[in-house]
Amino acid sequence: MDKIMQGRIKELIVRHPKVGDVLAEFGVACVTCAVGTCLLKDILEIHRLAPEDEQRMLTRIAEIVYPDRKVVVPLRKSEPQKKTGEPFHSPPLRKLVEEHALIKRVLARIPGMLRQMDLDTTEGRQLALASVDFIRSFADKCHHAKEEDILFKCFDGNLDIIKVMLDDHETGRAHVRAIRDAIERRDTAAAVKHLKGYRQLLTEHIRKEDEVLYPWMDRQLSDTEIGRLFSAFAAADAPMAETRRRSQEFISMLEQRFGDAERGPR
Ligand SMILES: [Fe+2]
Ligand SMILES: [Fe+2]
Repeated sequence: MDKIMQGRIKELIVRHPKVGDVLAEFGVACVTCAVGTCLLKDILEIHRLAPEDEQRMLTRIAEIVYPDRKVVVPLRKSEPQKKTGEPFHSPPLRKLVEEHALIKRVLARIPGMLRQMDLDTTEGRQLALASVDFIRSFADKCHHAKEEDILFKCFDGNLDIIKVMLDDHETGRAHVRAIRDAIERRDTAAAVKHLKGYRQLLTEHIRKEDEVLYPWMDRQLSDTEIGRLFSAFAAADAPMAETRRRSQEFISMLEQRFGDAERGPR
C-alpha cells in the first residue's frame, strides 16, 4: 500500500482507470485535474476525508491495484484537536506558511546585523549583498511569485485584501532596490534605513497572511482548487531547489553569527 501512497495519482489512474471512478465517488476530482503531480498521500491530506471514508476508499483502490491480494488498510487516527484560535491552513497554504517561517528567521537577525553594518568594509558589503540575494531569490522569486502568479489568481484581483498584499510586495521591492543602491554608494545609513523598513513591512505582511488572508482563502477554495494549488506550487518549486539550498545556508550563517535571541520587530 505504501508504494501506491507514494505514487503519482495520474499514473495510477492511467494504469487503473477504475481508481479514478473510486476517487470521484468520494468527491476527489483527480481525473479532471490537468496538472497531475500529486501523490496519493497528498490527495489524502488535501481532501481530509473522514477516517472511515478514507479507509473505505483506500480499500477499494487496493482491491483494484492488487486484485489477487487481501490488503488491510488501517483506520487513520483522528487528528488531535487544533488549539483554539490557531489559524487553519490547507497543505498548499501550509507550504507558504513554512516559507514565511524561513523568512522570519532572517527578519529576526536583521537588528543584530544592522548593529554591525559597515558598507565601507568588503565583509559588510558581502553580508548586505547576501541579504539582498536571499530577499530577491527566496522571499520574492520563490515565495511572492507563487502568491502572485498562482494563489492570488484564484481570487478577484479587485479585492482590497489582495491589492493591499500586492502593494506590500511592491513596497518590499522598492526597499530592496534602495538597499542595492545604498550598497553601491557605500551609504550605510541608507542601507540600514531600508533594511529596517523591509523588516517592519514583511513582519506585518506575513502576520496578515498567516492569520487573516490564508485562513480566509482556505474557506473560499474548494477541495479541487486546493488540489490544483498544491500541484501548481510543486511545479513552481521544482526549479527552485538550488535557491532553497542557498537560502538555508544563508539562514544558518546568520543564526551562527547573530544568534537566535532576537525575534519580532523593534
Ligand atoms: Fe505576500
Ligand atoms: Fe507570503
